[in-house]
Order: sequence, then C-alpha cells, then structure tokens
Amino acid sequence: MSRLSVTQLIKKFGTRTAVKGISFELEEGGCTALLGPNGAGKTTTLRMLAGLLSPTSGSVAIDGKGTSEIASRNQIGYLPQHPSFYGWMTGKEYVVYAAGLSGMNGKQASAEADMILEKVGLKDAARRRISGYSGGMKQRLGLAQALVHRPRLLLLDEPVSALDPLGRREVMDLLQQLRQETTILLSTHVLHDAEEVCDRIIMLRNGEIVEQGNISELSSKYRQPLLTIQVERDPEGRALAWLQSFRQRSFVKELELRGDTALLTVSDMGTAREVILQEAGNQVMPLLRFEAGATSLEEMFMKVVSS
Ligand SMILES: Nc1ncnc2c1ncn2[C@@H]1O[C@H](COP(=O)(O)OP(=O)(O)OP(=O)(O)O)[C@@H](O)[C@H]1O
Ligand SMILES: [Mg+2]
Repeated sequence: MSRLSVTQLIKKFGTRTAVKGISFELEEGGCTALLGPNGAGKTTTLRMLAGLLSPTSGSVAIDGKGTSEIASRNQIGYLPQHPSFYGWMTGKEYVVYAAGLSGMNGKQASAEADMILEKVGLKDAARRRISGYSGGMKQRLGLAQALVHRPRLLLLDEPVSALDPLGRREVMDLLQQLRQETTILLSTHVLHDAEEVCDRIIMLRNGEIVEQGNISELSSKYRQPLLTIQVERDPEGRALAWLQSFRQRSFVKELELRGDTALLTVSDMGTAREVILQEAGNQVMPLLRFEAGATSLEEMFMKVVSS
C-alpha cells in the first residue's frame, strides 16, 4: 500500500482553478519534490494534503485512510511556506505547544521536544525567545514542530527558499538525515534543490502535473545531443546568417539563437559535427566556440516554466 495516495484532486477558488485534477502516489521512504514555478499550485496542494484546506473534489489517503480521520492527520508533519511563530515564546515552549496539539501529554511533549530540538541543532538556543532567532533558526524550529510527533509523512512547503546560503546548507543537510527516517514531500521552484535532496520529482504547472518520475530516469529521458556554436560578429552579418541557416538542416531538431550563440539540439552528433566544422572551414567563419554536450533536465524544466 502507498504511504500517500492522491486521486483527481481539484481546488477551485471562485472561478479560478488552482489545482486541476492531479493524481500521484508516494511509496514509503525517500523524498519527492513538488517542483513548479510561482503560482503552479504547490502550496494549495500541500495544504490540501495536510488537511488544512478542503478539496473541491478528489481524495487524499495516507496508508489507505482518508485525511479527515484524526488518526491520519496526526501522522502528518507540515511546515508552511511562511511559518509564523509567537516571538515571545522560547523555542522549547513552542515545540512543546505543537506536541500538545497532537495529543501528547506534558511530560512526553517535553522529552520529545528536547530530542527534536537537539536533532535540528537548536539545543543551545532552546531557552531563548524566538524573536531573537535568525531566519535559518526559525526554519529549523519550523521543522522541529513538524517533526515532534514523529509523523510518517512530512510535508514541507519551500523549506529553503527564504534562506541565505548558510541557512540553506544547514537545512539541506538536515533534510538529508530526515529522509532516511521518514517519507518527505517538499515543494520548491528550484530544480537544483530537488536534485540535491530528492529522488523523485512531480513537476507542476498551472495546477497540472506535466511530468513526474525518478530524477535519474527523467535526466536520461531528456538528455539529447546539444551543440553550442558561438561566432564573432562580422559587419556583414555573414556569421549570424550562417547560424540561422542551421534551422533547415536535416540533423537539427531545434535551434535556439541567443545573441551570437546558437544552441542546436541534434539527432546525429557525428554528422552535425562533421558538416558544420567543414562549412566553417570552407567559408572561413569566425568561430569562437564549438562545444558538443547534452541537454539536461534543467533545459526541459526551463521550457516547462517559460511556456
Ligand atoms: N486563497 C486563495 N484565494 C484565491 N486564489 C488563490 C488562493 N490561494 C491560492 N490561489 C491561487 O491559486 C494559484 C496557485 O497558488 P499557490 O499558492 O498554490 O501556488 P504556488 O505554486 O505555491 O506558488 P509560489 O511558488 O508562489 O508559492 C495561484 O494562481 C493563486 O493566485
Ligand atoms: Mg507556494
């Protein structure tokens, strides 16, 4: 049985449909990234999964049980995109308060809070007021409150987006540890973050899933031979016209011109290299750069985001 099962989930806000019938499953363990640009529907989806927002239609099940059942809601840990805290509380008080909400008694809550604060690296700051915490410390406190009741599923909405490089590194390292122990679904708009900590991605755009799967499988699916050719600009525009002429060649699948540089997705790297280099030599083209490589998931993601 899947840890999380999402079926035809739809959320409408008035006439706007933020989530348009998405379905996916998460197996136990590992980390999955909900990846998409601003407004894709990541927060709306996560809030529905956390039971904080009721879907217009569709269903969510955790270990086969609906989220409306109290038992399954206690199995979820949720970190909002913009967590807000009571600044006058200490870190420890806040985590104990969160543990209490999930039904733990005072003694147990205190013991669990100590344990989790140590794990997220806030042991020394546990008795300080939250108002004096840095952004990275607040994000780690947010993780502590999401984890204190030992959830089976952790939902994290942009856990590193608001952090500086140091805070980001701290939280990333923590996520690497957590993924060994619990099932994580995190949202991000940065592919690089997803690649660093997750093994699967679900790509969302305009409330729809446009691609999903294992990151290494998707990387090889989207890997295609790519030639990068840069020319020196000549007054007659001969070199640029030459680059543009590649659009008509049989071995070119796609041409993208960026200033004086052409990016060619080609079907046959051998032929492309031979023909183009020969022409450059014969016609004395002012070549600056000629590079054979491959497109990556990043290019595919940029296309999805910009289309
Ligand atoms: N409470 C609401 N009322 C009306 N529209 C909403 C509401 N919440 C979200 N939306 C709309 O739903 C769409 C998806 O928003 P959502 O916050 O889920 O996107 P997101 O992927 O989390 O974006 P971001 O990367 O900016 O956090 C947006 O068009 C947004 O304007
Ligand atoms: Mg969001």
